[in-house]
Amino acid sequence: MKTYEIATIPGDGIGKEVVPAGQQVLEALAKTSSTYRFNFENFDWGADYFREHGVMIPDGGLDKIRNKDAILFGSAGDPHIPDHITLWGLRLKICQGFDQYANVRPTRILPGIDGPLKRCGPDDLNWVIVRENSEGEYAGVGGRVHQGHPIEAATDVSMMTRAGVERIMRFAFKLAQSRPRKLLTVITKSNAQRHAMVMWDEIALQISKEFPDVTWDKELVDASTARMINRPASLDTIVATNLHADILSDLAAALAGSLGIAPTGNIDPEHRYPSMFEPIHGSAFDIMGKGLANPVGTFWSCVMMLDHLGETDDAQRLMRAIEQVTANRAMHTRDLGGIATTAQVTQAVCELLTAPRQRKAA
Ligand code: IPM
Ligand code: MG
Repeated sequence: MKTYEIATIPGDGIGKEVVPAGQQVLEALAKTSSTYRFNFENFDWGADYFREHGVMIPDGGLDKIRNKDAILFGSAGDPHIPDHITLWGLRLKICQGFDQYANVRPTRILPGIDGPLKRCGPDDLNWVIVRENSEGEYAGVGGRVHQGHPIEAATDVSMMTRAGVERIMRFAFKLAQSRPRKLLTVITKSNAQRHAMVMWDEIALQISKEFPDVTWDKELVDASTARMINRPASLDTIVATNLHADILSDLAAALAGSLGIAPTGNIDPEHRYPSMFEPIHGSAFDIMGKGLANPVGTFWSCVMMLDHLGETDDAQRLMRAIEQVTANRAMHTRDLGGIATTAQVTQAVCELLTAPRQRKAA
């Protein structure tokens, strides 16, 4: 029997509600497996930890999770601590510390969910956004001088490297190749940003030669927002820089019905370090502690985790259970216009996973 070592980091706000829900669902799944189980270790890192200790993660914290098989993360953010401190102190520390350079964000309209696009059928919107996750606009390069003086100046330099762009392009082409349509759109802004984005385009062309069976095109990031709304079916796999993909993935999640559903994986494709899976919604302090958070974004992130661990059959089994539950409007949480609670949705998914009939079908 294989044991997967999983670090859980609920973080802040509703992360503390959805991560335990995700753990519950993974445990229900493992209960029916004869080949693997999970061993969870929880880490109380985040804003509360910061208030007590002055840091989001203790010294040597990364070493405690370095040898885990995967990380399940909730969210980072607190109304009383500047966002750049919570972000750089926790999530980016892990992403960059473990070189999780591919951020993968699938978007689909799940059964039972109403998207805001009138003319868009459920099959017209089936995307995976690949976000460069280690450099670009989030490289952290820049500085601020003469603070408070009229001559104050500040820079955030977007830094791109050939190695960084080549590896994310190769990852995106490979992912596009693995999907039925073999279609990739490379998002760019090389009309205005004439150095790094021009290199980005050139490297896309270079890597495309390794994947002759993948059809690909280029789209300017501004034009791509209109295309996502007007011609969603013309897109499949999408690759973009760190900031471009950050923005596009919120649009994608909204077009698919709710930010509460959208999952993400911060992946180290080479498996040198643990990869980290998290819902893309934030800490949502307005609803925290009320049991109203939608756990589906976390459950779908667990699907991605199972895929990454190689448990592809159970990944599919969990995805089917999630879809069965979203198809039932009585199981919709507040973000979807319903009144179901986190606990009810979690229980519904767990029941499907452990029900004898579903077990036989799987
Ligand atoms: C995301 C989030 C984060 C980001 C925030 C919380 C800093 O929006 O994962 O998309 O910008 O990367
Ligand atoms: Mg974002």
